[in-house]
Amino acid sequence: MRTTNTVFAALAVLTSTASAAPAANFWGADRCSKCIAASAYNGPYQGVGTSLEGRTNDGGSFGKFLHITDIHIDELYLKGSDPATMCHRANDTDVSLNIAGKYGTLGSICDTPQALMDATFDWMRENTKDVDFILYTGDSARHDRDKLVPRAKLGTLSEHQSIADKIVSTFDLQKTKFIPTFGNNDQFDYNKMAAVADPIIANLTDIWAPFGLGLDTNTAWKKGGYFSYEVKPGLVVINLNSMLLFSSNVLTKDCSLDGSAGAEMLAWMENTLNTIRSNGKRAYIMQHVPPTSASGKALYFPGCQKAYIDLIGKYAGSILGSFFGHTNSDYVSFIYTNNTIRPTDGPFFISTITDQPPTVNFDKSCVLHVMSQGPSIIPANNPAVRVYKYSTASDSMGALISYVQYWSDLVQDNTNDAVTYDVEYTTAKTYSLWNLAPHNWAKVFQQWSRNSASFQDYVRYRFVQNPNPDPK
Ligand SMILES: *[C@@H]1O[C@H](CO)[C@@H](O)[C@H](O)[C@H]1NC(C)=O
Ligand SMILES: *[C@@H]1O[C@H](CO)[C@@H](O)[C@H](O)[C@H]1NC(C)=O
Ligand SMILES: *[C@@H]1O[C@H](CO)[C@@H](O)[C@H](O)[C@H]1NC(C)=O
Repeated sequence: MRTTNTVFAALAVLTSTASAAPAANFWGADRCSKCIAASAYNGPYQGVGTSLEGRTNDGGSFGKFLHITDIHIDELYLKGSDPATMCHRANDTDVSLNIAGKYGTLGSICDTPQALMDATFDWMRENTKDVDFILYTGDSARHDRDKLVPRAKLGTLSEHQSIADKIVSTFDLQKTKFIPTFGNNDQFDYNKMAAVADPIIANLTDIWAPFGLGLDTNTAWKKGGYFSYEVKPGLVVINLNSMLLFSSNVLTKDCSLDGSAGAEMLAWMENTLNTIRSNGKRAYIMQHVPPTSASGKALYFPGCQKAYIDLIGKYAGSILGSFFGHTNSDYVSFIYTNNTIRPTDGPFFISTITDQPPTVNFDKSCVLHVMSQGPSIIPANNPAVRVYKYSTASDSMGALISYVQYWSDLVQDNTNDAVTYDVEYTTAKTYSLWNLAPHNWAKVFQQWSRNSASFQDYVRYRFVQNPNPDPK
């Protein structure tokens, strides 16, 4: 830890010279000193990291995990069909419309063909077999968009089953823990999940049994579809049912209303976080729908949105990461307080970084927690998977060191008749992040607020280099 601080200081000078930011803004006392000094926010990140040159200073005590999301497997996908039919049928009168590619159709309303799913899992088998666990943030089933072939219950279940089978045949589950959740397309009806014991939960309890998560005896799961799981000693994954917060789910109600299933889940979450904090453990949060879309639009019921942000702000010292799917894109949002004196009490706010430089005044704000939106496998944008590196040292268990974003250029894949995943960018090199501590992100955000070159990179990667994204 002593040598570490020297290296940190050297790095601060280095990066500040490059970016013209005063070094004091990194470790110094002038900005957010109370936040930075507060061990609750900083503690687990002390001494954790990878330098820009790839040297590690975590004593070699680190592991890797995968974040994958939104597979949307579609057994009806037909190569050479018309994308206007969700890539299910060819147009016999105008054959020029039949452009669906073997591996998918970029930016269309089509789902994922088996060929892309197979190639993606083959790549993961070869390149990510050293991961300790996989966070899968849901949406396994195809969209129910094709009026000529409406989804049937058995079809939904067989799509869930096919992904579970794929995980079992790709990874050694004795070494790699798989933690799934469901998305808004994973129930029997689109965007509809019952407040209590939705029927899909019972079926997923069976389908996900091989993952050994103890769901069949978990009362929170059976009732509400959420659970926690200690994935490493001292590191607990809190796996939420975002359908209970999501304002498009007509079967539930706002957290401010009596009998809200979302409020009940957040009460469970606070209890769980309290126990985690008093035992000196740390948490990751995962769920399908994030609080905000790529354009910064709130996605939860208003009362749930506020309660969720307050909860994350309050327990930010114990939450080392949060992982979402749903939007098929790659962006960050962060929880902050504009009170630099007593950050533990809030008020807390959320800001989502869009294609405009952030406008938060970082000199008067503390970034308490950074949320990562992982891009999807379904080629709404180019398919992508993310590999995180995290600390497994006991005093910093779970602290996020970096991630590598992999992507595949789908147009090339179809042209070459082969799927190739490459590194798209890395947090260490592209964003010069020593590790993913909130105060380090804050320094990057401050540079981004001046529309730096690294912000232009962020904007370029937001839709996984899809030239015609749908920026909802
Ligand atoms: C085929 O394409 C034409 C437009 O060129 C369209 O009018 C027609 O509805 C399409 N047929 C089907 C079955 O989708
Ligand atoms: C899904 O769950 C229901 C209720 O437990 C059960 O009756 C049904 O057989 C299940 N379906 C399958 C395919 O397992
Ligand atoms: C900053 O915090 C105060 C409360 O201390 C609040 O009223 C105000 O709206 C906040 N401003 C911004 C820009 O977040």
